[in-house]
Amino acid sequence: MHLEVANLSKEFTTKEGNVSALKNVNLHIETGEFVCTVGASGSGKSTLLRLIAGLDYPTSGKITVDQVPVIGPGRDRGMVFQRYTLYPWLNVAKNVEFGLKLQGIPKAQRRERVSYYLDVVGLTQFRKNLPKALSGGMKQRVAIARALACEPKILLMDEPFGALDVQTKESMQQFLLEVWRRTGTTILMITHDVEEAVFLSQRIYVLTARPGTVKQEFQINLPENEQGARSYHVKTLSDFQRYREKITQLLRDSTVEQEVMVG
Ligand SMILES: Nc1ncnc2c1ncn2[C@@H]1O[C@H](COP(=O)(O)OP(=O)(O)OP(=O)(O)O)[C@@H](O)[C@H]1O
Ligand SMILES: [Mg+2]
Repeated sequence: MHLEVANLSKEFTTKEGNVSALKNVNLHIETGEFVCTVGASGSGKSTLLRLIAGLDYPTSGKITVDQVPVIGPGRDRGMVFQRYTLYPWLNVAKNVEFGLKLQGIPKAQRRERVSYYLDVVGLTQFRKNLPKALSGGMKQRVAIARALACEPKILLMDEPFGALDVQTKESMQQFLLEVWRRTGTTILMITHDVEEAVFLSQRIYVLTARPGTVKQEFQINLPENEQGARSYHVKTLSDFQRYREKITQLLRDSTVEQEVMVG
């Protein structure tokens, strides 16, 4: 898998005039990577992810997955949003099964995949529950299982833990790293939470404030445990704090530059 975003720009036309949301964004992601893009509010993070997902069109530039241009949504790209997007009238298992049915996958195979991915997200015993009977963290785990069940080449996540309380968020981050290790899925996650990005990523793209463009790329080298995933103790390391401070400073600088330009 090779995702390439080249010279991507997006302008929105509004009653007040044109809004430049993204300008000449360049990035790439390779098989099995966990990459985060961080940026301030309004830096075009969701716009970027929506363009990659094929939910909107760029003004200029190009997005390709394995050299094939993105021209709309496709099952090679799975999406998890910040707000819960489960079908409220379907139970957990049926939510996970939904996309597989659409793809015309035979029943026996669907069953197998649903039980595998429910196990991956630790929700086997809740398979018959309706979404309203789940906590926020559990709902997001269902949304992750639903996206993974379609076995996309890349999982796109837009602030998936943004609506969760701090404790749930931390356990979901750990959980996501375990899922990533177990399934080998390639992940591109968008967040404004620098600590989250440093904890999860192998690489980080830092976006400037509006219009968003890649300001800097970081390779994150932090130790992993025997299972090949990071655990919480890395947050206490001085390397972790150095990455966090550097990226936070970059975001702060780019927001100030933006204010000076506007002012
Ligand atoms: N459909 C739209 N029409 C007009 N302007 C839009 C549209 N979508 C986004 N924008 C504008 O583009 C800019 C980037 O928005 P976007 O939602 O991508 O930012 P974001 O980084 O995801 O912000 P947040 O952290 O708040 O989620 C903002 O100024 C926003 O107002
Ligand atoms: Mg957003």
